[in-house]
Amino acid sequence: MKRTRVKAALAAEREADEILVKGWVRTRRDAKGFSFLEINDGSCLKNLQVLVDESTDAYGGLKDIHTGASVEVRGALVESPGKGQKWELRARKLTLLGPADATAYPLQKKRHSDEFLRTIAHLRPRTNKYGALFRIRSEASFAVHQYFREQGFYYLHTPIITGSDCEGAGELFRVTRLPAVPEMGSPGEDVFEKDFFGKEANLTVSGQLEAELFACALGSVYTFGPTFRAENSNTPRHAAEFWMIEPEVAFADLNDNMDLAEDLVKAMVTHVMKHCSDDLALFARFVDKTLTATLENIVDEPYVRLPYGEAVEILQKSGRKFEFPVAFGSDLQTEHERFLCERHFKKPVIVFDYPKEIKPFYMRVNDDGKTVAAMDLLVPRVGELVGGSQREERLDMLQRRMDEAGIDQEAYWWYLDIRRFGSVPHAGFGLGFERFLMMVTGVTNIRDVIPFPRTPKSLEF
Ligand code: 4AD
Ligand code: MG
Repeated sequence: MKRTRVKAALAAEREADEILVKGWVRTRRDAKGFSFLEINDGSCLKNLQVLVDESTDAYGGLKDIHTGASVEVRGALVESPGKGQKWELRARKLTLLGPADATAYPLQKKRHSDEFLRTIAHLRPRTNKYGALFRIRSEASFAVHQYFREQGFYYLHTPIITGSDCEGAGELFRVTRLPAVPEMGSPGEDVFEKDFFGKEANLTVSGQLEAELFACALGSVYTFGPTFRAENSNTPRHAAEFWMIEPEVAFADLNDNMDLAEDLVKAMVTHVMKHCSDDLALFARFVDKTLTATLENIVDEPYVRLPYGEAVEILQKSGRKFEFPVAFGSDLQTEHERFLCERHFKKPVIVFDYPKEIKPFYMRVNDDGKTVAAMDLLVPRVGELVGGSQREERLDMLQRRMDEAGIDQEAYWWYLDIRRFGSVPHAGFGLGFERFLMMVTGVTNIRDVIPFPRTPKSLEF
């Protein structure tokens, strides 16, 4: 007999004589003559109530069945006379599949702190909150692919191991087979020659450079994969391994890029609100009471578009004491970003045209010679959700920028080639997937929206 998932059982249109359900016991309540089991199989937030009556064979199967155990239940799906559920399963046969020691099982009925649950990341998806979170994560991933497919984008798999550093921030994780740290070689010796690839290799910080090459061939592409940064900042918004969505579009400028970012975010939020309403309701109830209003605002309101210079003025005139002072030429900090969208505009804000000194070499230099066609999309609670730009498509200008940044042109000959052969204006951005999930659920720590977080001094599971 085919197993029925709890979600399907709960959504049944009529009673059924016999169904088979498998799952984990969330709770057991014993009364005189019968017991109730709450079974969850991960397919949805709600549990299926199972009634085990003394008069059935199933009753004998109750021995050793406690919270955390896995079970198999056969029985009739009938309308529940009790409150709180439409259907219940009247067990005829109950089999213990895997017992769980009730005294040792860490997930007890009470609410556990997020900090504690992080230490048992292998079990936390069995809780209501984390089950909901990771179903939302799955659905949001699907929303990304669906959105781009409908817009005519091609999904591109960019390499995880790279020989380049897109962001030029030096936050790289080296990949090596060398038995000793290369710095131990003698001066002038290229120790990486002996390494696996014959040159220095790292985990990618971004798929952008490769995505640009493909955008200038397939027109519109996107990547959606893991990226790695050895940022030694132990913040609630940074992980050493995180997932990024990076669209790249040929024949596009900064305005097109802003339109795409706004449209993508709105489409993703709309999709999650539509397809994860039960799971989202848990976050709106227990995690952030303003969540629904925040998400509706993100979907309904046009985003503010604001040149960096004006953003700095607003911050300076705000009369606020920021931990980091604001001045033209310095990068915006999370406190500034959050002030702009939470307090000042009360909606998402796209800041564009940043000073070129604080942005990477690939961003297109504006006519003023001082700023680049960069854009950051800032959202409530999270700050920067998206970072992107129009790319420098003029060969001479790009070469000048690389020289200024101290980047070896020879190593990027393929990147420069794209400007030599049929160069076109193009633009793209990176959207941090975990930051998106923080925004959508109201969860305030990035460690709680990724299955197994990698952060400084933390590599369990
Ligand atoms: O602004 P970033 O560094 O942009 C790039 O990497 C570009 N190459 C993207 C592009 O144009 N194709 O990163 C993009 C986004 C950020 O806005 C943020 O949401 C997220 O990635 N992000 C992180 N998320 C979690 N942990 C980290 N350490 C992150 N660093 C960036
Ligand atoms: Mg950025």
